[in-house]
Amino acid sequence: MRIADRIEDLGTETAFAVAQAAADWSARGHEVYPFHLGDIDLPTAPHIIEAMNAAIADGKTGYCPGPGIPQLREALAAEIGGQRGMSLSADEIVVTTGGKPVITKFLQTVMNPGEGVLYPNPGFPIYESQIEYLGGTPLPYRYVPTPQGFAIDLDHLRSLITPQTTALIYNDLQNPISAESTQAEREAIAQIAQEHDLWVLSDEAYFDMRYSGSSHSIAALPGMRERTVILYTFSKKYAMTGSRLGCAVAPPQVAQIIATLNTNDESCTTHFVQWAGIAALTGTQEPVRAMLEDFRQRRDAVCALVNDTPGMSVAVPESTFYVFPDVTEAVRRVGAADVGDFAQQALHATGVSFCTREHFGSRQPGEDRDYIRLAYSGIALPRVEEGLGRLRDWVSSAG
Ligand SMILES: Cc1ncc(COP(=O)(O)O)c(C=O)c1O
Repeated sequence: MRIADRIEDLGTETAFAVAQAAADWSARGHEVYPFHLGDIDLPTAPHIIEAMNAAIADGKTGYCPGPGIPQLREALAAEIGGQRGMSLSADEIVVTTGGKPVITKFLQTVMNPGEGVLYPNPGFPIYESQIEYLGGTPLPYRYVPTPQGFAIDLDHLRSLITPQTTALIYNDLQNPISAESTQAEREAIAQIAQEHDLWVLSDEAYFDMRYSGSSHSIAALPGMRERTVILYTFSKKYAMTGSRLGCAVAPPQVAQIIATLNTNDESCTTHFVQWAGIAALTGTQEPVRAMLEDFRQRRDAVCALVNDTPGMSVAVPESTFYVFPDVTEAVRRVGAADVGDFAQQALHATGVSFCTREHFGSRQPGEDRDYIRLAYSGIALPRVEEGLGRLRDWVSSAG
């Protein structure tokens, strides 16, 4: 039987292949330290689970409105608007099954086949997958290393824009590199979007995952709200990755289209999960604080051990739960053919499993450093220390 041609353009999250390799290694009786997936090893808070169970018991198990239940849309407008200094109304909120569908639905709404979309590389792989799948032209923009982490190469980004460019995907608090824009960089992106009349998808999946300071949304800058769709998710902040709950914040006309796409695709987001979302937003935020404190300790341990490993270095990021160390010299030191070989050797020699830069898009011309991504959201502090201690000892003993 024939498969549709467009499937050839569908990408995936190749991190899942790393997870498979780690699972295979573990099944063969080896210890594995999982730093590959951005999942969370902490449970959803009890009051959220209780609200979900109560909603089931109360019969909230049928269909509900495609844009989301009004009570959740109100709560999201208050929460998201309050944190970003924007006054949002419920008709700008469309509830979705996690944050990821917002990427597809944004592109379906604003991008015609053949039109160009700017997106970060290294970046979340689903951007490129969906741009290509929907027939757009992928325009990956790059980052440059700085002593504080990474900055967007604005000249490079500008050089990619053509009259056919229709949208820009912006992931401040970035997966995989943990980059965070300065206010000047955020304003420069906003200016570019306005100059070239671009739609902006502001992926704010990690907006609340930070250890100091405060996050800012590009949507709150003058002239941006009417051209920006925010991706919001409960996955990370409330440790609800499997519940699949998020939303798009969009100008009302776009919000209506995304709601219609919901009706076509899922009918609605799971009814009782939406009630759990209300409990998450309006209940105690203590579990969020406790999780961030736990993650802060993991981050400190990861960065200290990485910087104590010969040939590896990283700046300490203030947000997300990823670090993206430069491992160029370590790759050379252990005699690996390339960074992919380094990852495989590391798994077999130490049990430490991680993604490499290559899992987040093809290398850009002129990129000659090797990077890996360590996600510390799924591994408790003592195991972080044990695993990365082994990695350090393995690299140290080579060369
Ligand atoms: C940058 C980024 N955007 C969006 C998502 C999607 O999150 P969700 O689980 O809510 O679909 C992720 C998940 O890892 C992410 O890293």
